[in-house]
Formats: sequence, C-alpha cells, structure tokens
Amino acid sequence: MNKNDYTIRLEEKSDYRAVENLVRESFWNVYKPGCSEHFVIHVLRDDPAFIRELDFVMEQGGSLIGQNMFMKTIIEADDGRVIDVLTMGPIGITPQLKRQGYGKALLDYSLKKATEMGFGAVLFEGNIGFYGKSGFDYASKFGIRYHDLPEDADASFFLCKELIPGYLDGITGVYQTPQGYYVSDEDVEEFDKDFPPKEKLKLPGQIFG
Ligand SMILES: CC(C)(COP(=O)(O)OP(=O)(O)OC[C@H]1O[C@@H](n2cnc3c(N)ncnc32)[C@H](O)[C@@H]1OP(=O)(O)O)[C@@H](O)C(=O)NCCC(=O)NCCS
Repeated sequence: MNKNDYTIRLEEKSDYRAVENLVRESFWNVYKPGCSEHFVIHVLRDDPAFIRELDFVMEQGGSLIGQNMFMKTIIEADDGRVIDVLTMGPIGITPQLKRQGYGKALLDYSLKKATEMGFGAVLFEGNIGFYGKSGFDYASKFGIRYHDLPEDADASFFLCKELIPGYLDGITGVYQTPQGYYVSDEDVEEFDKDFPPKEKLKLPGQIFG
C-alpha cells in the first residue's frame, strides 16, 4: 500500500448504491453464507442515531475501495446514569485490497474525526487482531458489559476504545447495540434481489450458520 494512493471523504447520497454493493462484496460469505451488511447500512442511514459527519468512503483512482460509519448509542451505567458513546461499522474494504493496510488507514482516520467531534468512546463487536492495532481493548477491561450476554459467556468479541482518555473511568454498565443493526433474514433476501446474483457458500471460519 502506498500512503498517497487513496483519499477518504464523506459518503454522498449518489454513492449509496455503489457503497452497498462494495459492502456486499466485502462481507459476502465472510461471517455466514451470503451477508446482511449491505442491507444494514441501507437501513442505518435513515436512523436518527446515524452520524452523517462520520460516514466515510475511501477511494482509489476514482473507484470506491472502502467504507466506514458510526452510530450514537449508550451505556446504561449501574449507578443509573446514561453515558453517550459511539458504535461503529460496518467497515469494509474491497476484497482485492484486503490485508494491505487500507482498513487500518480508514479506521484510524475515522477515529481521529470522531475524536475531533468530541465523542468519548467507541464500542462494538469485532476482532481484536485487527482493532487492537488501532488501540481497542476488551470492553470488559473498562467495566462495560454486552447486553443480553450471560455473565460467564466469552465477551472477547466486545471491544472498546476511549477517544477521551478516562471517559469511562468510574463507570460500569451495559452497552446497548442500536436497534437499527437488527434486520430480518426475509428483508435481507428481498433487498438482495436487486443486486447481481452471487453464490452463498458455507465456508470454514464463518461464525454464523
Ligand atoms: C476487516 C477489514 C476492514 C480490515 O481491513 P484490511 O485492509 O483488510 O486490514 P489491514 O490490512 O488494514 O490490517 C491491519 C492489521 O490488522 C490485521 N488484520 C486485518 N484483518 C484481520 C482479521 N480479520 N483478523 C485478524 N487480524 C486482522 C492485519 O494483519 C494487519 O496487521 P499487520 O499490518 O501487522 O499485518 C477488511 O479485511 C474487511 O473488509 N473484511 C471483511 C468485512 C469485515 O470483516 N469487516 C469488519 C467487521 S467487524
């Protein structure tokens, strides 16, 4: 990856379909046969919690090669407070360019912009192997629990990064995923019909059936 061969800008309405296609390509057969993330971003853009100023696309030579977005959400603190935080994603890089540093570049740029806007912390489900390199740690280390997860369950998928150092000091509580991320398989199937046909495959490593 050449540091100067890409640009990052805000997504525009005219990008929507191309970005949905990019996300579909990026996530297809990665976590399950097919994927739902292209429909998720379609829905999230109309959600009041969506942050237009933190909705990014990455381009190279005039082509879209990546995207990332953020949503507002909350931690319900054990002492009764409601703590405003961010969640992030989907984030995706076009399949041909994965593992060349573009994802990290887009992630770090987006986090810098979120920090500049004054947000305190970002929490989401992800792989520590990728996000750990950008300063994320297990949310459990910050005293934050994932909603609806039994206490003895493995929560290593649930990650956190403070954008304001100390933002979560003295806070324990439960993180809530914005409802917009939950889509039905039927709605995804219907939405997917407008995209080019693609084969759904069961592959090793997929975490959802
Ligand atoms: C996840 C994704 C955005 C990462 O972008 P990328 O451009 O492929 O990743 P980068 O090349 O910037 O990787 C940065 C570092 O994270 C590591 N990394 C990247 N993806 C990883 C993964 N899935 N598991 C473990 N480590 C990973 C890389 O090894 C790299 O470290 P290194 O530079 O020391 O080798 C991209 O692979 C993608 O679109 N994947 C499919 C969709 C997806 O899973 N999105 C995230 C959902 S939580």
